[in-house]
Amino acid sequence: MYTREFILKKRISEESLELLHQVCNLPFSEFELKNHFLITFYAKNPSEFDVISQLLNQLKLINSDLKDLEQGINNSKSINLSNVNMDNWKSFLSDIQISKSISIQMPWSDKIDANSILINPSLAFGTGHHQTTQSCIKILCRLKDENFNPKTALDIGTGTGILSFVCGKLFGCKIFAIDNDRNAIDQFNNNLELNKEIEGNYFVSFTSDIDFNKQYDLIIMNISSNYIMKNLEQILNLKNYKYIIISGFIFNDLQSINMCINDYKVKIVKLYSQDDWVTLGLINE
Ligand SMILES: C[S@@+](CC[C@H](N)C(=O)[O-])C[C@H]1O[C@@H](n2cnc3c(N)ncnc32)[C@H](O)[C@@H]1O
Repeated sequence: MYTREFILKKRISEESLELLHQVCNLPFSEFELKNHFLITFYAKNPSEFDVISQLLNQLKLINSDLKDLEQGINNSKSINLSNVNMDNWKSFLSDIQISKSISIQMPWSDKIDANSILINPSLAFGTGHHQTTQSCIKILCRLKDENFNPKTALDIGTGTGILSFVCGKLFGCKIFAIDNDRNAIDQFNNNLELNKEIEGNYFVSFTSDIDFNKQYDLIIMNISSNYIMKNLEQILNLKNYKYIIISGFIFNDLQSINMCINDYKVKIVKLYSQDDWVTLGLINE
């Protein structure tokens, strides 16, 4: 197996990805780094990269994404994966200090600190490098500074469990985490094992269904805008919650979310944004 890998400054649009999937029979991936995107094409034989390069050359007039991909493929070298240390990707995931009290470390870090939260992402989402995760953590830290002390929290779309562990560290509360991806649940449990010292009672479930009979003081949802649009009303109908963090959407969606919120007795009290991503903090009045 061979790869060609390169960095792009902007995300490839959904339309270009769709087009590429239709015309290109080589698998490829897009991995978000801090402010860049790592694109990797895979092939059984290096000559297959020339074929895709010619194809992109013909298609590049359609849009600038395809032109960037063509340049990337042409300017990168084929790497034979059998000669590569497969743990190379780990070097892209560095430790990060998100606030004074919260730092996230990867288990392969060479300077493990007892106060940090250890996150092994494996196949689940949530390393702490994404803008939406960071904004959620910043709001959680602000809540702690403001002496908000939830007894129970619900983490919808928990992924690696990162936001649940931040809640545990800050509030030591009971945390219900849900995700509809089996890999996420497995990885949550692995990360729970890595973070045994962190306080909190954790209950993780492989489901998309929220238990509406439970009371959650704090609700966190860092999830797709589709999910938010579809489920927000139902979540706002939950009883007795005090605070909701909504994340995972972009500025274009803010108006629709605001319209939905307007029908409820909740008020936006925090708005964090990084790049185009928006995270809201809402109190239930
Ligand atoms: C953007 S990731 C957030 C991960 C982590 N909470 C963070 O903040 O970094 C969204 C997560 O939501 C999960 N998810 C997507 N749709 C879902 C659904 N309908 N029900 C439950 N989880 C869902 C995905 O599997 C993924 O792990």
